[in-house]
Amino acid sequence: MQIQTIAIIGAGTMGRGIACASAVGGYTTVLEDVSGSMLAKAITWISESLDEGVSRGKLDGSARDAALTRITTSQVVDEAIRDAELIIEAVPEELEMKLELFTIFDKFAKPNAIFASNTSSLAISDFSDIVLHRERCIGMHFFNPVPKMKLVEIIRTPHTSDETAAACVAVATRMGKETVIVNEAPGFITSRINALIGNEAFAMLEAGIASAADIDKAVKLGLNHPMGPFEMVDLVGLDARLKILEYLHTTLGEKYKPSPLLRQYVLEGRLGRKSGRGVHDYSAGKDPRVET
Ligand SMILES: NC(=O)c1ccc[n+]([C@@H]2O[C@H](COP(=O)([O-])OP(=O)(O)OC[C@H]3O[C@@H](n4cnc5c(N)ncnc54)[C@H](O)[C@@H]3O)[C@@H](O)[C@H]2O)c1
Repeated sequence: MQIQTIAIIGAGTMGRGIACASAVGGYTTVLEDVSGSMLAKAITWISESLDEGVSRGKLDGSARDAALTRITTSQVVDEAIRDAELIIEAVPEELEMKLELFTIFDKFAKPNAIFASNTSSLAISDFSDIVLHRERCIGMHFFNPVPKMKLVEIIRTPHTSDETAAACVAVATRMGKETVIVNEAPGFITSRINALIGNEAFAMLEAGIASAADIDKAVKLGLNHPMGPFEMVDLVGLDARLKILEYLHTTLGEKYKPSPLLRQYVLEGRLGRKSGRGVHDYSAGKDPRVET
């Protein structure tokens, strides 16, 4: 299957990053969101991200300009997907919302278009079961921040065709990413492992075993992870992590029961970098690396 146009639904943290990678990969890219202000912010973010790529020597000025011309925006989903051979949804992690979108894709997409979800944890089968051609449904799990992160997990359901999987691997490769193939299971590879590491870190913090800063430092310097578990959850969002753990707890069992401290922070509005405070404090003038 020849993919020339990619539609990305949702222009938040992930959608804008995927749109940027898509345009740099040479695809005609349509970015759709219900919110006009999110689209405006996304275009500014993409432009700044491309500028940063130029200043880091990752692409030249003409490649940046060409990438920007490949992106258009839309607030009408059925129009946005009309010409796309690949549709990637990146709306919030809510099953009902994603199901509604897959129904729209089924109705308005081109014949043979591939429907992909960037879900962090939900079962792709839940989406593919409601469309006509489940062999064309797949997970493409990108990582935050998309322009810098190398991996895309490709999640196959038992019904995803080889052709669909191969087309998505080719797209991710053209976006400059590495891929791994995952047979559908809750949390795939990365969300499942990351959720457990993070939950264990919260349990240790709650038990007073070490400060948050020292747990992060130990994992970075002793285990060679580029980020500590709390730096990571502050980036992902504590609310997003809680949702993933709740889902894994329901589907995979007790081992994934969310830490009470994580739940408490979410209730207090400590959602991570996006709210100015998560485990660490990001309010003006504070250096999160010395927060305990
Ligand atoms: N944030 C991460 O680190 C991360 C990493 C990997 C995967 N994911 C997954 O990616 C998906 C998106 O996450 P995010 O962090 O980008 O969310 P986000 O909240 O930053 O962005 C979601 C966007 O979707 C838009 N939206 C809401 N309903 C819509 C609709 N019906 N149609 C079109 N647009 C709509 C919102 O206006 C918003 O701009 C989720 O499934 C999440 O689990 C997130």
